[in-house]
Amino acid sequence: MINKQRILTGITTSGIPHLGNLSGAVLPAIKASKNKDTSSFLFLADYHSLIKNLDPNLTHNSSLEVAACWLACGLNPDKVIFYRQSDIPHIFELAWILSCLSAKGLLNRAHAYKAAVSDNKLAGSKDLDRGITMGLFNYPVLMAADILMFNANIVPVGQDQKQHIEMTRDIAARFNHYYEDIFTIPDALIDDEKGVLPGLDGQKMSKSYQNVIPVFTDKDHLRKAVMKIKTNSKEPGEPKDTNNCTIFKIYKSFANAEEVDSLALEYKEGIAWGKAKELLFNKLEDSLSDYNSEYKRIVNDREFVEETLMSGSRKALEISLPLIQKVRKAVGIKGFAKLK
Ligand code: TRP
Repeated sequence: MINKQRILTGITTSGIPHLGNLSGAVLPAIKASKNKDTSSFLFLADYHSLIKNLDPNLTHNSSLEVAACWLACGLNPDKVIFYRQSDIPHIFELAWILSCLSAKGLLNRAHAYKAAVSDNKLAGSKDLDRGITMGLFNYPVLMAADILMFNANIVPVGQDQKQHIEMTRDIAARFNHYYEDIFTIPDALIDDEKGVLPGLDGQKMSKSYQNVIPVFTDKDHLRKAVMKIKTNSKEPGEPKDTNNCTIFKIYKSFANAEEVDSLALEYKEGIAWGKAKELLFNKLEDSLSDYNSEYKRIVNDREFVEETLMSGSRKALEISLPLIQKVRKAVGIKGFAKLK
């Protein structure tokens, strides 16, 4: 069998799926998963959720919602390996082994940790590590274990995650050099800007900025969210710029070329912001309606989601078990004799 290139994507389950996830991660990953020359590993990074929140209901519900989102958007679980991180204990075992090889100094330089330290500095705290957990600090090591466990070749991520892939490469190379050449050195595939959607305030749409438009919501909430998008103070009749316009960018990622051209023309002719928002709302409602009805069906069929994930986990374990056995041996963790 020819070894296919492995593409691996993880989704932290600590929030509801939003439009930015859909256009930046879910839809491109589903499209990529249809390529016959690659194999796709997609997983719910549920233990990563604990880094961001300690609310059991949020983690649990979000896991179900994210799983249902991927399935509703057309992921074919028979064609990919779709699993829950927490069902693969070998990842956590590997994370420990890797942490024993990872330089603390390397992790001191992680953006997420540095940002937390700098917030403490700004707040005038004497303890610069105030409120920072080992989970946040170790997070890049867990991510390295997620990736190396399956010897992924390619990891599509946003720009904000690029550093984590570099750390993964560093940690893998250290292991390979020190013990045995076991791990594939992965490459990051950085999202093109096209997929990155702005949120309500014009910054990148992200749950941490609280500027998201949810994918699976009712008509009223969707309209309310769209109406909240920040615009400039140009009056109706004044020509508007399509560049750097949140409404236009979101519209563009869901509309066809003809519709985009026609909206661009209306911008030139001075469309009122209210009308532009109305057009965006209609477009979103229309584009999301099929996903929405599938989502409703799937999210209410917990047995189906559970079965799907368990069958994905069984496939993942077939890969993780032999690999962790090799790793254990390489580091000197092995039995003394075969018992009869
Ligand atoms: N940290 C990633 C994010 O916040 C999610 C993630 C966890 C991930 N493990 C991964 C992504 C492994 C790619 C590969 O977006």
